[in-house]
Amino acid sequence: MTLNMKTALIAGSVVLVAAASTLAYAAGGGGTGDYKMEHKHWHFKGAFGTYDTAAAQRGYQVYREVCASCHQLKHLSFRHLGDKGAPFYDKNYPNPNDNPYVKNFAADWSIEDIDGETGDILERPGVPADKFPAIYPNEAAARAGNGGGLPPDLSVIVAARNGGADYIYNLLVAYNAKKPADIELTPGLYYNPVMDGGKISMAPPLSDELVEYADGTPATVEQMAADVTEFLAWSSDPKLEQRKATGLMAMLYLSILAILLWFSYKRVWKDVEH
Ligand code: HEC
Repeated sequence: MTLNMKTALIAGSVVLVAAASTLAYAAGGGGTGDYKMEHKHWHFKGAFGTYDTAAAQRGYQVYREVCASCHQLKHLSFRHLGDKGAPFYDKNYPNPNDNPYVKNFAADWSIEDIDGETGDILERPGVPADKFPAIYPNEAAARAGNGGGLPPDLSVIVAARNGGADYIYNLLVAYNAKKPADIELTPGLYYNPVMDGGKISMAPPLSDELVEYADGTPATVEQMAADVTEFLAWSSDPKLEQRKATGLMAMLYLSILAILLWFSYKRVWKDVEH
């Protein structure tokens, strides 16, 4: 075999493998029944993508008013909401502990603490340094409150689920899909074509106008689902914007270096006969 044929064969196989894996990926997460997964255009995708701050802020409201009665955000403290790149970052308050939004959000939660003098357990309003509190005292209580189902922690859910943001968005909007006749639901289970097997123990959490957005955005199910997903995408990957900015600087640096190297190469070899 000549070298050229070998190269062509290798290149051919690489293209085939790449095509096959793309197809396999596209086929994944199709949903049960007739449901077609909707692929949304997320603001944070792509080399220059950043979070849509307004959407993520609305998403926090949805989380707080709807999801927080069952789901914790155990990897987050309130002050993270005001970090650089976070939904409530304000350059006037580089220290998120001073950010008035963050302080208000924290104070809106009740935190279990111990009285330093008497040792009694008490409840006090949250401060920015507090973590988002647990919703249930233990797993048994969480299951008992949810018909046997266990609401997972949501802080890294977008990273944890195959399909990421599209999966979470579709899970929240897919409850209206028509149930195939062969799927049987016992009490406490709902049809959701995005779940494996089509069954979920979470009742449909969203309905139109469930929250009232301060910025006047109409609160449709799709809007709230997209907003809370944007917020949860941020909580899963709070350093995304910083990472992309660093990557961009590295590319710029390498390009300049390459140009300089090219000129010095020309100069060093200019008197040598080729
Ligand atoms: C009344 C309680 C309750 C509320 C409110 C609620 N959930 Fe759930 N959620 C659950 C339970 C229970 C499960 C576990 C479902 C299962 O495993 O069958 C769950 C599961 C999930 C899952 C994981 C699905 C999977 O792939 O395993 C996601 C994501 C989720 N909920 C997001 C949300 C979001 C976002 C909100 C707010 C808009 C919300 N939930 C509101 C109870 C709730």
